[in-house]
Amino acid sequence: MERELALEFVRVTEAAAIQAGRLMGRGDKNGADKLAVDAMRAMLDTVDIRGTVVIGEGEMDEAPMLYIGEEIGDGQGEPVDIAVDPVEGTNLVAKGLPGAIAVMAVAPRGCLLHAPDMYMEKIVTGPAGRGVISLDAPIEENLVELAKKLEKPVTDVTLVILDRERHQELIDRVRRIGARIRLISDGDVSPAVAACVPGSGIDVMVGIGGAPEGVLAAAAVKCLGGEMQARLLPEDADQELRARRMGLHNPRQLLYLDDLVRGDDVLYVATAITDTDLLAGVHYGPQFCSTHSVVMRSLTGTVRYVHADHQLNRKWPQGRPVTYSRRKN
Ligand code: FBP
Repeated sequence: MERELALEFVRVTEAAAIQAGRLMGRGDKNGADKLAVDAMRAMLDTVDIRGTVVIGEGEMDEAPMLYIGEEIGDGQGEPVDIAVDPVEGTNLVAKGLPGAIAVMAVAPRGCLLHAPDMYMEKIVTGPAGRGVISLDAPIEENLVELAKKLEKPVTDVTLVILDRERHQELIDRVRRIGARIRLISDGDVSPAVAACVPGSGIDVMVGIGGAPEGVLAAAAVKCLGGEMQARLLPEDADQELRARRMGLHNPRQLLYLDDLVRGDDVLYVATAITDTDLLAGVHYGPQFCSTHSVVMRSLTGTVRYVHADHQLNRKWPQGRPVTYSRRKN
């Protein structure tokens, strides 16, 4: 994919974050999501791509915008798969809690796992975990081996786990071995990415979360040279069928990073809505609002942090306009 696309996509997540951020703490997760979806959808049509949404806001009949299979972009450029989550962590925005991002991943057509909306078991670490961790191994063994690679005691290894009933046994076992845990209420993409960034304070993200979020995280993990393994957890016959339709003979097979994101040409782009481990959330000033984004490209391994000030004025009190019309060539 052309490298210029990276910055085009930053505009897309910026637009979504600026819009959703306006509703921070207002208890309106659907409202924030809708604003972000509209902004992201409008901005995507200005980009020179022939994009297909493979991970989006839902099925065609459920979601009017950014539905799975929707064609986006100005129809002129390369054919690409697009995974989007205009608000990853809708509850976090509604409550004004940290960790919400607007996020997308882009890869040449056929390279992103078309993960349907079901649960996925995941484990993510930075490069130190490559060839060391395994989703099939007991968590204690993973932590001991990773601690050796990180050259620190297991009691200094820090994990992020979604605070859910289903994780109680996992949490108890991690506590027994003495590792540090940060329990989060929502939003496992951002900590998965942070686990791959040295100095972020997070070493591992583990547990069961959304499969679409797993693929988005995998794009960043690939760019950052981290390690990730995953397994879909279909809950009924319909979900089993969906997993098989994705080409998985065994829907519960262990998925490696290359199964989640094929090849070595993927982009990951995110803008913080609320503060995250790596990025400050959207701030609104009298004349400007500022955004912080990260854009990564696996082909070169470049990671760019983009701080942008967007002019606010009476005409565009929400930040940059989001009603761009389709570019004509
Ligand atoms: P939203 O779709 O509301 O943004 O929630 C995202 C999320 O917290 C993911 O980060 C996580 O993977 C998943 O939901 C967890 O699902 P559940 O809330 O059902 O445990």
